[in-house]
Amino acid sequence: MSIQDELVELRSATLQAISQAADSEGLEQVRIGVLGKNGQLTGYLRSMGSIPKEDRAEVGKTLNVIKQEVESALESRKATLAASELEAKMQAGAVDITLPGRAQQMGTRHLISGIIDEISEIFHGIGYTVESGTEVETDYYNFEALNTPADHPARGMQDTFYVIDRSGAESAVRGESDVLLRTQTSGVQAHVMENRKPPIYMIAPGKVYRRDVADPSHLPQFNQIEGLVVDEGITFADLKGTLDYVCKQIFGQDRETRFRPHYFPFTEPSAEVDVSCGICHGEGCRFCKGTGWVEVLGCGMVDPNVLAYAGIDAERYSGFAFGMGVERIACLKYNVPDLRMLLSGDMRFLRQF
Ligand code: DAH
Repeated sequence: MSIQDELVELRSATLQAISQAADSEGLEQVRIGVLGKNGQLTGYLRSMGSIPKEDRAEVGKTLNVIKQEVESALESRKATLAASELEAKMQAGAVDITLPGRAQQMGTRHLISGIIDEISEIFHGIGYTVESGTEVETDYYNFEALNTPADHPARGMQDTFYVIDRSGAESAVRGESDVLLRTQTSGVQAHVMENRKPPIYMIAPGKVYRRDVADPSHLPQFNQIEGLVVDEGITFADLKGTLDYVCKQIFGQDRETRFRPHYFPFTEPSAEVDVSCGICHGEGCRFCKGTGWVEVLGCGMVDPNVLAYAGIDAERYSGFAFGMGVERIACLKYNVPDLRMLLSGDMRFLRQF
């Protein structure tokens, strides 16, 4: 076979291999085989010297033409393969832009915080200050200063969690510590009276703790709003008028209130306040256990002993106090049947408020 014939064959074989290369990698192999350092065309180009003189010009020309043809075929096949490879890559990593997006989940203020703010606003509007106390309290402020000494039976209903000083004596066991998680916000009354002269018109919202198992009407941790008024000439009529006004602000103008005698160690006389049932409006239903009334808070005239503990002249000043459970008020206001639902973290429930 003449050299010219060999070249014709090499040309067609190479062009075919180029057109059949399945991917960039295969095409590169073809290029190396022909134009690489040890490629077939390179071999011919390198051996030009051994070609008979009379044929040299002709063979050289053919080689150059083939080289150019091969180079341009490689070039265009390369572009074609690159385009289809890019296409395949895009298909594989395709994003379905018609899928609906994932919306940002925006939180809302919790119902309990909402009620605390709302009630604080009501009292703020009638000139009360909003105080805060600490959740870790001493036995003195939680009980003693509120006319509830160690042997007082009212303590029985308010067992709590005692804070033990680990660095202290080994004998520091529950019952021997006098630092505790407060069972009521009432202790704030004593702190405020010690630090300020009357007139005092204040409320104090905050968390309280009890050694209770959670059930539909009890939680081991809940919120209260305490209230205290100390001024000259304060009477039970002031207490009634204020709390009737506040209950109507919270629950609606159509709600009635009634004051039922009760007992609290730190007030005398004491009462519990009921509002007419929001579901049956006093008729009697399952929600109000057939009575037509629901209990919302405790209150009374500040016991002179409590004023005396705080160094306030009980001859000159008198006052009233009250305390309400925030979770309970939330449930009454929105007809929630179980206190535990407030803590569930269930967005379907919480979003309603
Ligand atoms: N501290 C009471 C409780 O937790 C609630 C209470 C009742 C507070 C009467 C008061 C009050 O200030 O006068 O049950």
